[in-house]
Amino acid sequence: MSRKEIFGREKKLIDDVGITGCGYLGKVVSYPGGEYEEVGSVYLDLTTPHCMLVIGKRGTGKSYTLGVLAESFARLEPEIKNNISVVMIDTMSVFHGLRTPNVNEYEVNRLKDFNQLSPRDFERDINTYMPQIAIDAYDKTERPLYDNVLQFPLKEVDSNSWLSLFGLKPTDPEGIDLMKTIRELRKKMEFYDFQDIYEEIDIQTDGKTKDSLVNFFKQMESLKIFTKESSSFEQITRGGKINILDMSYLGRVKGYDVRNLLVSLIGEKLLKKRTLFSTLEMQAEAGMLDSSIKKKVTENPLVYMIIDEAHLFLPSGKSTIASDILIDWIKLGRHPGLSLILATQEPAALHESAIRQSDLILAHNLTSHDDIEALGKAKQSYMKGGKDIQSVVSTLEFKRGLSVIFDDKTRKTVMCRVRPRMSLHTGMDASALPDDNSKKKGAPPKII
Ligand SMILES: Nc1ncnc2c1ncn2[C@@H]1O[C@H](COP(=O)(O)OP(=O)(O)OP(=O)(O)O)[C@@H](O)[C@H]1O
Ligand SMILES: [Mg+2]
Repeated sequence: MSRKEIFGREKKLIDDVGITGCGYLGKVVSYPGGEYEEVGSVYLDLTTPHCMLVIGKRGTGKSYTLGVLAESFARLEPEIKNNISVVMIDTMSVFHGLRTPNVNEYEVNRLKDFNQLSPRDFERDINTYMPQIAIDAYDKTERPLYDNVLQFPLKEVDSNSWLSLFGLKPTDPEGIDLMKTIRELRKKMEFYDFQDIYEEIDIQTDGKTKDSLVNFFKQMESLKIFTKESSSFEQITRGGKINILDMSYLGRVKGYDVRNLLVSLIGEKLLKKRTLFSTLEMQAEAGMLDSSIKKKVTENPLVYMIIDEAHLFLPSGKSTIASDILIDWIKLGRHPGLSLILATQEPAALHESAIRQSDLILAHNLTSHDDIEALGKAKQSYMKGGKDIQSVVSTLEFKRGLSVIFDDKTRKTVMCRVRPRMSLHTGMDASALPDDNSKKKGAPPKII
């Protein structure tokens, strides 16, 4: 029987259920006598909480691997899939391709070598969300396919988040007035819209701060993300779907980083919701409450948040609106069942909690000294036989999808060739070549 490696899963669970609830990631790679060889299968646990990092230099396959993981969630048995919600923060619009079967000739041919897989779409498994301002930026006749408009109620943004977004301190005159305005509005109304904010600003401010506060909120209003009551939240967090939140257009639109605000809103609500539910669930399991509570699990599924370009949200050495809540997920998420999968080019630029607390790391090629050192600090203890991380990670051949996996649960380090995508990867290198077919043909020369 060929070798099978299961990562992220305790031995006891492996003995009980084997690979049920795992994703098929690709092949084990070894170099006997210096020759490249694919010798077995790599599986990843998708049923228990993880903090996983996917790292590697530009163009080494991070977003591609996140796509493979999304496909793996979509391929889980329905009774497991329905207990999980996947929220993908798409900063480069690269995950829309999950709607379309892979047409890249090289990848389609290679797929057969990976458990006889074939191209397919995941149209029924995904839900894509786009902000209205991004939809409006396209010509009416050329809009991409999407399922939902990304929207959140205004009342969910608290005054501290507005202060951070607008770059104000609570002691600034604008900051003081903004806090008063939101506090009073919240006392008066359960839901409010921008008009209510303007009216409250009128009451709470004098001439000095009024104009700047109104201007801040006018800019937010023009994004068409914040509404009086409509919210994407319930839909995003229902079990059984891969929810792709396309935030590419929101990168510093109007000079504000709204992406971080949205990640913090979603992250905080989920932490509260899952913490309350897991206490109920625990008491129901102990026979203290009606067991019908357990049936509500699809409304309160475990959540995997997948963030591409994660250093934008959780950087080292500075904080963003989202960083505190993401650190809470990393440190407290195991019990309420909140997992993070973070991809970044530069682990050294990622907050050190993410590196230290991660239980799974998938490293594509890295060469920068700082990045290898950051990885070494967290995972050097795994390396056996005097080998150091530098010698393993920086000498990975530049084969597409080749990676090293470091796993806390098994304390193993294994080389893995990530499988080709079944659906289309739309994050291909831009090319000025006029021939469209060059994209279909796939792998550039030299890379095998
Ligand atoms: N497992 C794989 N099998 C086949 N091809 C792959 C694999 N992984 C990556 N590739 C190829 O490598 C290219 C670059 O991958 P990807 O877009 O994931 O890079 P990235 O690491 O996310 O880069 P960036 O940091 O610039 O976002 C893809 O377009 C694809 O052609
Ligand atoms: Mg990428």
